[in-house]
Amino acid sequence: MTPGPDEIIRTEQLTKVYPGDIRAVDGLDLAVRAGEIFGLLGPNGAGKTTTAGMLTTRVIPTSGRALVDGIDVVAHPVRAKQVIGVVPQTNTLDRSLSVWENLYFHGRFFGMAARVARREADRLLEQFRLADRAKVPVLALSGGMAQRLMAARAIMHRPAILFLDEPTAGLDPQSRIALWDILGELHRDGQTILLTTHYMEEADELCDRLAIIDHGKLLALGTPDELKRATGADTFVTVSAAGDLDAMATYLARHVDGVERADRVEDTVRLMVRGTQGVLPAVVTAAEGGGFTVTDLSVTEPTLETVFIDLTGKDLRE
Ligand SMILES: Nc1ncnc2c1ncn2[C@@H]1O[C@H](COP(=O)(O)OP(=O)(O)OP(=O)(O)O)[C@@H](O)[C@H]1O
Ligand SMILES: [Mg+2]
Repeated sequence: MTPGPDEIIRTEQLTKVYPGDIRAVDGLDLAVRAGEIFGLLGPNGAGKTTTAGMLTTRVIPTSGRALVDGIDVVAHPVRAKQVIGVVPQTNTLDRSLSVWENLYFHGRFFGMAARVARREADRLLEQFRLADRAKVPVLALSGGMAQRLMAARAIMHRPAILFLDEPTAGLDPQSRIALWDILGELHRDGQTILLTTHYMEEADELCDRLAIIDHGKLLALGTPDELKRATGADTFVTVSAAGDLDAMATYLARHVDGVERADRVEDTVRLMVRGTQGVLPAVVTAAEGGGFTVTDLSVTEPTLETVFIDLTGKDLRE
């Protein structure tokens, strides 16, 4: 890969092997452009946190390279830390400080003058919808507010890249949308953002481009639309039925025209089908012909989840 002019994150064959021969990240090549919201999408254990950890100097790579804003994170970790802001997967706010103080002292730590740090703390609390909580101890914040404060703190020193690891995991829908709104505003202001997620709605809604990873490997990369268009089918049909679902999957794959693959997913059989014309009656007729009784049928257009199933044969949800 030759570096693009506006490239701000780059990994080359980035690899992390944990003790016990656990290949958490396996030869990852990525390039993120300045100003993008870029997503790392993958299931639990895919290697998202480890990848973000290497890019943010928290995890030492086993091999390969990682660059942020042109700085090699292994060779120059202190310089790399100056250009990144990090919101980790766990709450790392200082519990002995108030909301406002968490921002102020972070700014001071990064060398801001007191006056500038005060002004920025005030401004960010407004922007992150926390101004009315400025004086409260961080323990008094809801999960969504704490997450917003962590994001505000991460950009206090105006980093070139903001990293967020599963920013909305465990948040209620309202808090999730509030954070999406704020990230959207930062994006419009030109902030480069890399986030990890296992919520496909989040990836679809927020990300300009995303990398789908599993077992530490890149499975696909592109805009949400490109990924959906590239999937091997244009429709998914989910069939619920009584009886042996594995047998039904095999049977339907053989007896319904246009079925590209049939997988048993929990209590259903999921068919990947090209063309929707007449597919529902065809499925019912074929199933009955094989001695299966269909109890429910549904059709879905491709989503990032169906892309993922297409790539891995398994469901992204836990
Ligand atoms: N410090 C560690 N020591 C050993 N193995 C680890 C360590 N951290 C992660 N792993 C393993 O590496 C793999 C990738 O983990 P990682 O946390 O990067 O995945 P993830 O995609 O962030 O998952 P999650 O969605 O659960 O946050 C997993 O198999 C995990 O068990
Ligand atoms: Mg993780």
